[in-house]
Amino acid sequence: MTKNERIYLSSPHMSGEESLYIEKAFSENWIAPLGPNVDKFEKEIADYVGVGHAAAVSSGTAAIHLALELLGVKEGDIVFCSTLTFVASANPILYKKAKPIFIDSEPSSWNMSPDALEEAFSYASKKGKLPKAVIVVNLYGQSADLDPIKEICDKYDVPIIEDAAESLGATYKGRASGSIGKFGVFSFNGNKIITTSGGGMLVSDDEGLINRARFLSTQARDPAVHYQHTYMGYNYRMSNILAGIGRGQLKVLNNRVEARREVFSRYFKALSDIDGIKFMPEAIFGMSNRWLTALTVDQKKLGFTRSDIIHGLEVENIEARPVWKPLHLQPLFKGSKYFLHKGKDVSKELFQSGLCLPSGSNLTEEDQSRVIKILKKLIKK
Ligand SMILES: Cc1ncc(COP(=O)(O)O)c(C=O)c1O
Repeated sequence: MTKNERIYLSSPHMSGEESLYIEKAFSENWIAPLGPNVDKFEKEIADYVGVGHAAAVSSGTAAIHLALELLGVKEGDIVFCSTLTFVASANPILYKKAKPIFIDSEPSSWNMSPDALEEAFSYASKKGKLPKAVIVVNLYGQSADLDPIKEICDKYDVPIIEDAAESLGATYKGRASGSIGKFGVFSFNGNKIITTSGGGMLVSDDEGLINRARFLSTQARDPAVHYQHTYMGYNYRMSNILAGIGRGQLKVLNNRVEARREVFSRYFKALSDIDGIKFMPEAIFGMSNRWLTALTVDQKKLGFTRSDIIHGLEVENIEARPVWKPLHLQPLFKGSKYFLHKGKDVSKELFQSGLCLPSGSNLTEEDQSRVIKILKKLIKK
C-alpha cells in the first residue's frame, strides 16, 4: 500500500460467502423484499442473540421507528433517550411528533447514566407524565449498564428499546447485546461490524409484536386478496438480496469482533502510556465488540485538541472522527430537557475531547502502524 492510500474509519469487510447467497437468490428469482434469505436471516439473528423473534427491515432507524409505533408512542408523548449517540437514535421520536428527554452518560461505559435516568423519572413522575419508552444506546460497541437501568424502568413500568445498532456481537453479563430490552435494534449500515450495505433488524421475545412489525413494514396490508388497508403502514422490509449479504456476514461476526478488539489492543499498547490520552473504558459488566476505538485527549496535558489530531490524520489521508455530538447540544433538539450525571455534563466533555480512530476489521497491521506512527509524531510536536 502506498503512503497516501486512504485509511477509512470503518469500511465494509466481506467474507466471500455473501455472493453465494446472492447468486442463489438470482437463480431462484427471489429479487424482492421477501424470500428465503429474509426468513433465514431473521431466524439466524434471533438465534445468535438469543431472542425469540426478529423482523428484517431496511435500516436501524426504521427498526426504532417501528418499535416506537408498536409501543403506541403518539404526538405529545415523552420518550427518554441517551444523549451521546448518532441522531438516528432519536429521529424516530420526531417522526412520531413525540418529545425527547435526553439522559447523560456515566464515565465507566460512556453510556446512559442510571443516576441521571432516575432523576429524569422522578421529574416525569412529579409532572404526572411518564415516558412511553426509554431508548438506551450501546455506544461504540459497548453495552450500557442495563440491570440498574432496567430496574428503574421496571419500577415505572416503562419499556426499553435497546439501540444496539453499534453493538452486535457484544455482551452484557454474558447475555447478547440487544437482547435485554423489550425491543433490540441492530443496524447493518455499511460502516457497522457486519453490513448488508444498508439494513436493520428489530428483535423481541414478543412474537405478536414482531409479526405486527412485519405487517406494518409491508404497507400494513390486510390479509385479503384485494388490496385492503385498515392501518397506515411503511415500506420498511429488507430485500432478499441484502438479507443474503447479511447471512454471509453473520457467519464471520465472531471473527469480526475478535479483529476489532485486536485493533483496539494494538492502539492501547502503543498509546495508553501517554499522559493525557485515555481510551474508552471497557466496563466490568460486559464485553465490547470495540466497533470503534474511541479515546479522549486532554488538551491541558498535551497542548492540542482532538480536532488537531483529526486534522493531522486527515492531512495524511487517514479518516478519524469526533465522538458523536450529544443530541442535547444539537440545534435540532434545542430546548429539549436534559438530565446530567451527578451534576456533571459527562457527554459534553466526552464530545469535546473524544475521537474515534480507524477501527475496521480489515485494517491491516501495516496500515494501523502507519496511523500509530503519525499519531505519535503529532503528539511529540
Ligand atoms: C447508535 C445508532 N443508532 C441507530 C443507527 C441507525 O442505523 P441505520 O443507519 O441502519 O438506520 C445508527 C447507525 O447508523 C447508530 O449508530
